[in-house]
Amino acid sequence: MRNNYFKSAFILGGTSTIAQSICIKLADNGCKKFHLVSRDPTANKKLIEKLRIFYKAEVTTEKNDLLLNTSLVDNFKPKVDFYDMYLIAPGLIGNNDLANSNSKEALKINSVNYAGIVPWLIEIMTEKRIKFKGSLWVLSSVASDRGRPSNYHYGASKAALSVFCEGLLLRCVNKPFSVRIIKAGYVSSPMTAGAPKFLCTSPNKVASILTKAPYRRGIEYLPWWWNLIMFAVRRLPSYLAAKL
Ligand SMILES: NC(=O)c1ccc[n+]([C@@H]2O[C@H](COP(=O)([O-])OP(=O)(O)OC[C@H]3O[C@@H](n4cnc5c(N)ncnc54)[C@H](OP(=O)(O)O)[C@@H]3O)[C@@H](O)[C@H]2O)c1
Repeated sequence: MRNNYFKSAFILGGTSTIAQSICIKLADNGCKKFHLVSRDPTANKKLIEKLRIFYKAEVTTEKNDLLLNTSLVDNFKPKVDFYDMYLIAPGLIGNNDLANSNSKEALKINSVNYAGIVPWLIEIMTEKRIKFKGSLWVLSSVASDRGRPSNYHYGASKAALSVFCEGLLLRCVNKPFSVRIIKAGYVSSPMTAGAPKFLCTSPNKVASILTKAPYRRGIEYLPWWWNLIMFAVRRLPSYLAAKL
């Protein structure tokens, strides 16, 4: 257990595989209060029991579907209270082929990865909150670095998320609050069922790396060697990038 560590955490996307690993690592480091927001809070039963029974943590849950957060008619205003750290974890690859001809699928991917998250980020990142120490971690993706034919709907929505959060990050320069944009490569989870195994990192490993530096700020590739891969991918000529 460490002093000066997060004592409370607000997790948007509490059922995500990576978020669950992060929660356990945060608890290992002394975090005692969790608020888990997800579409189905009962899906977190095992995690909640472990946090409550093994770590003696206080856990609350909230039901939310991001697809319902983007209406321009009703002003959706989520409650985010005051937590030491906020983790933004929802993500949807969706069906890229379907999205090419079906705008509903395209907008669904956009809402889960970006538009539906915006109202939450607005409530978290108030001028009042960023005057105090705390941290926002955002799970973005290496897919945001280049629009590839096989997943550009997902990549574009993650790029929007990354750029929006880079604005938040720069707003926090010289402020006690830190913003951390995590461009993860393949991580073993339901999202990467068909991904090459040798490129996949375990959610535990990802959680270990992240929780070692809780107040780090900036944009980081995870694991670090994805920075090298994406350096090359960004420079591939179109005729090669078209095959990705
Ligand atoms: N796995 C990877 O290789 C990888 C790589 C780079 C970045 N990331 C990012 O890391 C984050 C976590 O991914 P993961 O690997 O842990 O994937 P995961 O286990 O599939 O988790 C995805 C999360 O998104 C939530 N979600 C999907 N649709 C939603 C909706 N309409 N409303 C609210 N929540 C919704 C899911 O909730 P339900 O449980 O209700 O479905 C789940 O909590 C995502 O942002 C992902 O884009 C992952």
